[in-house]
Amino acid sequence: MSPLSITRTLPADATAAALRADVTRGLTSTPKQLPPKWFYDARGSELFEEITRLPEYYPTRAEREILLTRADHIAAATGARTLVELGSGSSDKTRHLLGALSELHTYVPVDVSESALAAAGEALLTEHPGLTVHALVADFQRGLTLPDSPGPRLLAFLGGTVGNLLPEERSAFLRSVHDMLSPGDALLLGTDLVKDEATLVAAYDDERGVTAEFNKNVLHVINRELGGDFDPDDFDHVAVWNAEREWIEMRLRARKELTAKIPGVDLAVPFAAGEELRTEISAKFREDGVRAELAAAGLELTQWWTDSAERFALSLSVRG
Ligand code: SAH
Ligand code: TRP
Repeated sequence: MSPLSITRTLPADATAAALRADVTRGLTSTPKQLPPKWFYDARGSELFEEITRLPEYYPTRAEREILLTRADHIAAATGARTLVELGSGSSDKTRHLLGALSELHTYVPVDVSESALAAAGEALLTEHPGLTVHALVADFQRGLTLPDSPGPRLLAFLGGTVGNLLPEERSAFLRSVHDMLSPGDALLLGTDLVKDEATLVAAYDDERGVTAEFNKNVLHVINRELGGDFDPDDFDHVAVWNAEREWIEMRLRARKELTAKIPGVDLAVPFAAGEELRTEISAKFREDGVRAELAAAGLELTQWWTDSAERFALSLSVRG
């Protein structure tokens, strides 16, 4: 058997049905909204990788700094033989962990983007020929069945992706993480931290417009998968800081009155000029809040590390 196996727990038709359901529900509700996982087709995954290299997008660099300085400690504290990573994308930062986890036997990257998993898996096997890589094309919000592999397990959720879940989704998700962990396993969670508004907004509204293109990619996905006739140029990318909820809100704002036809779901969707479609939130955290949310899910935070500029945090937790 090849050391790289890819298992789809998301059959192609289930994905299509889920997209139809989300588009129908989201575009007929007020205000209009769409769940963020639909950004990540092959093009979306590439655009996200480009975002991680932008000068304004600090989270990737900050989290990498923490991983580089703490990987040995994480390895010693967990002794992980299996690393499961949710929303693994390119697995680029994960290299720092893979290098440090000397007991590691199996790596299980989990993502909705099959193209990202395939590319990452091939690259990792070249660097770690002895490693078993069992990639899962799966939705981490839907309850995962993990492959059999030796414990202890370290479950990593990096990139601040937990902040893309709404508070109710987040608590359900953290409870499901709790249920996946056995005694001796651990969770490594990356959370972006609350900071000044200008820094935050710039990270989600860059000078070169890569984030704008990423945001509009969801319209291309609807056009391609559901025969929609959105013209992405009819929309402006908007990123605003919601100071009360402490999250960035990404929206697409119609530049004029228009009606989008989406034959795949039998819809004609009217937009008023200036009307906004909410595409994503990215919540920012404080240590006390992270600790409390983990505790509510039955998890005990045991370590909290930030980068030197205190922009981003990694935390380690275990079952309480
Ligand atoms: N961990 C990487 C990538 C973060 S981008 C990093 O830190 O740079 C978020 C990733 O999560 C993308 O690869 C996206 O495809 C994946 N993703 C988003 N929603 C998902 C879901 N519901 N289930 C599984 N993967 C998801
Ligand atoms: N997890 C990333 C974050 O919240 C995802 C992300 C970065 C993103 N930039 C984006 C999502 C722009 C939508 C639009 O930082």
